[in-house]
Amino acid sequence: MILNRTNIILSGSLVLLVLLIGGTRTDYSQPNIEILPDMKYSPAWTAYAKNSVFANGRTLQAPVHGTIALGDLPLHFKATEADAIRAGEELMNPYHADSIGDPTVLQESIRRGADSFRVFCIVCHGATGLGDGPVPKRGFPPPPSLLTGKSPQMKDGQIFHILTYGQGSMSGFSGQLSPETRWDLINYVRSMQGKADKSNKPDTPDVKNSTSDVNTDGQPSDPSAAESRVLQEQTSNP
Ligand code: HEC
Repeated sequence: MILNRTNIILSGSLVLLVLLIGGTRTDYSQPNIEILPDMKYSPAWTAYAKNSVFANGRTLQAPVHGTIALGDLPLHFKATEADAIRAGEELMNPYHADSIGDPTVLQESIRRGADSFRVFCIVCHGATGLGDGPVPKRGFPPPPSLLTGKSPQMKDGQIFHILTYGQGSMSGFSGQLSPETRWDLINYVRSMQGKADKSNKPDTPDVKNSTSDVNTDGQPSDPSAAESRVLQEQTSNP
């Protein structure tokens, strides 16, 4: 082994370095060297705090005029039957199998819709959509069957309008159900109607009974239903 001067100096400094590092104690609670501390410790504003950065002095700013929040599509409809029909022409079911090309997406939507139906709709419309839930059995105007009423002929967008703004004595669900959940429910109702097509032909007496309180136009004959429809149209604000 050749021990020239450079090697002696290098190995000497290595030993020194090891001794130095071993001898110091690291305090991990202390911050490292911070080059741009403003990046790490940016001032946080609470939503309603005064804020000198903006001209109007507020932290919470209104959306820029003409913009909408991501996923928040505004609906330009009134709570009227005419607008419900227009919604049927204009609104597309985002889960429509044709437009997605992946049937599992629709199946998942139907599954979610079944869950929401149990929570929000079964009380009136009944487990199979015949309109025989516990609420109409106690005097509430019975809903038309979802299997044989007008809804099988309605376009998805019209049902979306009904679930959003309500119809007659049924109030709207825009406050409780997100647009996605409303579409899930429509897909579930459609799947029930598909199943009913196969199992209920010709109409069973059960189905006929459930629609006996309904006029030819599919509305319950109870006059109070018509009254609340007017109220609904005046007050509904999704
Ligand atoms: C409080 C009872 C009640 C609840 C809860 C309810 N509905 Fe209704 N629904 C009705 C009544 C009553 C009608 C008939 C309204 C009318 O036209 O006068 C109706 C009508 C409908 C119609 C239109 C049927 C037609 O042939 O005109 C659809 C579709 C519908 N409901 C779906 C739903 C869905 C989906 C839910 C769950 C989110 C739901 N409803 C929750 C009572 C209810």
